[in-house]
Amino acid sequence: MERFSNMKQVDLVALFNEMTLDEKIGQLVQLTPDFFEQGGEITGPVKEWELDSEQLSRVGSILGTQKASQVYNIQKEYLEQSRLKIPLLFMADIIHGYETIFPIPLAMASSFDEAIIKEAARLSAHEGTNAGIHVTFSPNADYVKDARWGRVMETNGEDPILSAALTRAFIEGYQGTDLAKDKNSLAACVKHFIGYGAAQAGRDYNTVDISDIEMYQNYLPAFKAAIDAGVKLVMTSFNTIQGIPVSGNKRVIQKTLRQDLNFEGVLISDWASIAELVPHGVAKDGYESAELAFDAGVDIDMMSDSYLSHLNLIVNAENLDKLNESVLRVLNLKNALGLFEDPYRGLEKDSLDKKTIDGLRDSTRKIAERSIVLLKNDGILPLKNGQNVGLIGPKATSQDILGAWSWMGQNDKAISLADGLASKSINLSTLDFSENENITDEYIEKAKKLAKELDIVIIAVGEKSDESGEGSSLVNIELSRKQDRLIQEISKINAKTIVIVFSGRPLALSNINEEARAIIQAWFPGSEGGNALANILMGDANPQAKLPMSFPRSVGQLPNTYAQMSTGRPKKNDNKNEKYISQYLDELNTPLYPFGHGLSYSEFTLEHITLSKETMTRAEAITVGADLKNISHIKGSTVVQLYLQDVVAQVTRPMRELKKWSVETVNAKDEKEIEFIITEEDLAYVHSDLTQRADVGEFKLYLGFDSQSAMYIGSIHLTD
Ligand code: GLC
Repeated sequence: MERFSNMKQVDLVALFNEMTLDEKIGQLVQLTPDFFEQGGEITGPVKEWELDSEQLSRVGSILGTQKASQVYNIQKEYLEQSRLKIPLLFMADIIHGYETIFPIPLAMASSFDEAIIKEAARLSAHEGTNAGIHVTFSPNADYVKDARWGRVMETNGEDPILSAALTRAFIEGYQGTDLAKDKNSLAACVKHFIGYGAAQAGRDYNTVDISDIEMYQNYLPAFKAAIDAGVKLVMTSFNTIQGIPVSGNKRVIQKTLRQDLNFEGVLISDWASIAELVPHGVAKDGYESAELAFDAGVDIDMMSDSYLSHLNLIVNAENLDKLNESVLRVLNLKNALGLFEDPYRGLEKDSLDKKTIDGLRDSTRKIAERSIVLLKNDGILPLKNGQNVGLIGPKATSQDILGAWSWMGQNDKAISLADGLASKSINLSTLDFSENENITDEYIEKAKKLAKELDIVIIAVGEKSDESGEGSSLVNIELSRKQDRLIQEISKINAKTIVIVFSGRPLALSNINEEARAIIQAWFPGSEGGNALANILMGDANPQAKLPMSFPRSVGQLPNTYAQMSTGRPKKNDNKNEKYISQYLDELNTPLYPFGHGLSYSEFTLEHITLSKETMTRAEAITVGADLKNISHIKGSTVVQLYLQDVVAQVTRPMRELKKWSVETVNAKDEKEIEFIITEEDLAYVHSDLTQRADVGEFKLYLGFDSQSAMYIGSIHLTD
């Protein structure tokens, strides 16, 4: 590629000026490898449309390739036919690992630890770039408070501030510090801009109707964090905002994204979301879809022929600049990745086979240990050497533990719970399970017989991977009736029952909560899930993860978040003798397990809590100090959380909002000082004019180990 050695911006413009209109439009089109006679991942509806070789030779990017040789061959053939030799971009959904699968993002969010996220992103990028990928459609920065929506599994959960911190960590892990030089870094594409997680009734792709203030307060922070961290692409969401689908929504794109968030990178549509402006009912046909999206400012049309077939009729002297800006953003992205100098970005023809990455499985296991949440434990865990332990249930021997969005992950290489426990020093009796994972009466009888003979029974239950993720919403988020029945029957026979739940979402576990002596939320723990779970069960790893999303008592409580507003008639406690207050007649208001909850084998207390002062001006700060004590005999870690309430504000504010947290490790019978610094920025909120600022007044502080039990530690006052 001597033509492009040491490509500079000025060369880019020179190249750009050589491009024909059709070549410019081609850069804004993204197709799957199928169009290049190579199979790939299909992650949406596929419409057949006829493209000629001329059109194919101008396409700008490909999504969903599955191996390096595919990328190499497509790129090579493409460049041989391309007039201007502008390299293709290759993009894919590397959501929680490429072939070696990490826990689902909602699980990794349970670590509350940016370093964990960054490590997983960096390793995912390494494995994905070895397979020729340049851009990942990750992280998912959607704010969500409804576990019916299947895509909760790929989010960072229900808190905007936690999600912002973890989203930033994903970007840093994927993109590293130099995309052009570091061939194992990936450009990241944060998604789905914006409001997708608010799908009404939790039904994927359903209408979204959120206020601007809610959007700016809760949906924007994670995207702002991604953009401030230098994310290279943003993806539009399928949903409407103020009645207009985002892929055709000029106000959301031009004002909120480009102006308010100052995003200067590439804006790509979601799969066919431009063409879907027609079924949405805001465009009559493909021409109007292309016109609406182009005018709104979407750069790349993913997997629709809207731009390819119509843009050449839409572009004119008045809007040619808009086209040129889009094309230059795409060329700049290719240049940032060093593709003009090396279109194969480090792939070598003679060594396209898979390369091993030292320590990758080890890291996957350690990250899974940091993602598994101990919801309940009356002391039955950890297990003891020599115990007679039964392992039953549909997930006991299942290798379906990778979760959705694990395309290249291989179930047959996943370590099941039974595999993980097999190497431990307990007497394990596993009741195998048929492939279709249905619980039969016969199976329950066998399990009851086994339960009679053993000290302890572990029952592994939950969802299949395809019951969460895209297009996988549920109205019922309880365990199946048969799984419930299995747990009830076994717990009657063997009181020492431990339940392990595999799921991509918070489930409503009220039906089995009393019966289980311990409950572990395994999420979908990834390729090393069984080993991580076995280490947690045996105490070889001390659980420390916390819920990034509340577990409701009932699906009827959804959508729900810990950050509840007071309302005009707040329910002060869980008694039921008041009538005219905000409550249910048939359920408590509180979740079964609150945001921030998670147990350890250690026991922690917070003592000597201090505030450096009670009043601060805008330029000052207040320090919250405490002694974190581990009063147990086991070294352990926990997440200390600081919540705040703005007592009187221009708009209603939650009774508790997470503002600070810290992952802390304390030796047995030891203690350490911790502190949090509160500044004016922590007191700011979005006002009705959509500006973010802090008002003078009182702020209540709560400190603890979850959103519900955090205790009031005093009030601070902001003064001018
Ligand atoms: C899908 C998803 C999006 C994904 C894209 C490409 O429909 O909504 O998250 O990145 O298509 O696969």
